[in-house]
Amino acid sequence: RTDGLATTPPLGWNSWNPVSCAVTESDIRDAADALIDTGLREAGYEYVVVDDCWMADELDNEGRLLPSADFPNGMAALADYVHDRGLKFGLYSSAGSHTCQDYPASLGHERLHAEQFAEWGVDYLKYDNCGDHRGRDAIDRYAAMGDALASVDRDIVYSICEWGQNRPWEWGRNVGGHLWRATDDLVAKWRADRDEFGLGIADILDRMAAIDAAAAHGPGGWNDPDMLQIGNGPQSGQSEHEAVDVQRPLTEAERRTHFAFWCLLAAPLMVGADLMSLSDFDRELLTNERLLAIDQDPLGIQGTPDRRDDDEVWSKRLYDGGAVAFHNRGDAEREISTHVSAVDVLGGADRYRVCDCWTGNEWETGGSLAMTVKPRDTAIVRVTPG
Ligand code: GLA
Repeated sequence: RTDGLATTPPLGWNSWNPVSCAVTESDIRDAADALIDTGLREAGYEYVVVDDCWMADELDNEGRLLPSADFPNGMAALADYVHDRGLKFGLYSSAGSHTCQDYPASLGHERLHAEQFAEWGVDYLKYDNCGDHRGRDAIDRYAAMGDALASVDRDIVYSICEWGQNRPWEWGRNVGGHLWRATDDLVAKWRADRDEFGLGIADILDRMAAIDAAAAHGPGGWNDPDMLQIGNGPQSGQSEHEAVDVQRPLTEAERRTHFAFWCLLAAPLMVGADLMSLSDFDRELLTNERLLAIDQDPLGIQGTPDRRDDDEVWSKRLYDGGAVAFHNRGDAEREISTHVSAVDVLGGADRYRVCDCWTGNEWETGGSLAMTVKPRDTAIVRVTPG
């Protein structure tokens, strides 16, 4: 694409999981400050995105969006606060009459709202799929906002939140999108029960393996498997949003798997947790430079499965080789092995250097790769020919 935005997957924070519909101006300021204090800004997380519920109950007489009383200084001042800290500012609306929490949204007002976003200093728009669609199909509704954003004099990353329902990887770029949700909402669970809202980590991996979306993924346009749930659980202080099961937070192994796979997928990394109560483990996970380099690799290729049986081996081509992930689906620790000849993105060299992305340990191999992996955990290595 030609606008030069989102050449690598966007990194940041989003208010939905930690504060859901209770979001206020001070939550957003706190999140901006916390991105700095935790070292996440330094690691590359830059977008601070206000999700649903920031707007007043009604549009004004001209159809403009108004901030709610929980944003008493208005959106331009909040954007300034975020920009002053070297960060970028994101807002949310929906391609329907209303948002998912029933606040007024942008269908039919795209130009006016895009102009407001530009005036306020918005750098990122998350555009949801709720409300009355007035008989218009998804492509038409998303193109209307894409055109409106392209017409304003400001660079705004366009995040399409259509939940993967109409194969957005086939049209997301054409309507001006820089990322598009490929899946339903992720919740902080390993697997969600069938009759409840949302998907777990393992459900999302099944979905990402099943859809044929990797070819569309790359610089300027990314498949989005939803926000990171690392940091959500009893320690996060978050309990209002029904989707987060505070009784059953992800284990450390499950969190490592979550982060390893989002990086292997070259996914947008939007932290969906309260940054002020992040544990050391979660902070170190989110700022792991070896993993972030895989996510942010300049080729922007999405990892895909080489094998999914009792165990899983996935790989992702990198500019100087590849990343290989070994995921243990079972209940007991075991060794998972493969050979470069069985890994889609490698092969052909006599020798390879291998680096364990968790420990930093390095070794050489003529081709075989074997890792010992705990249940539900994932080992991930960077493999470089020569
Ligand atoms: C939908 C989206 C979520 C979040 C909520 C807000 O469920 O998929 O990511 O934005 O709406 O209401």
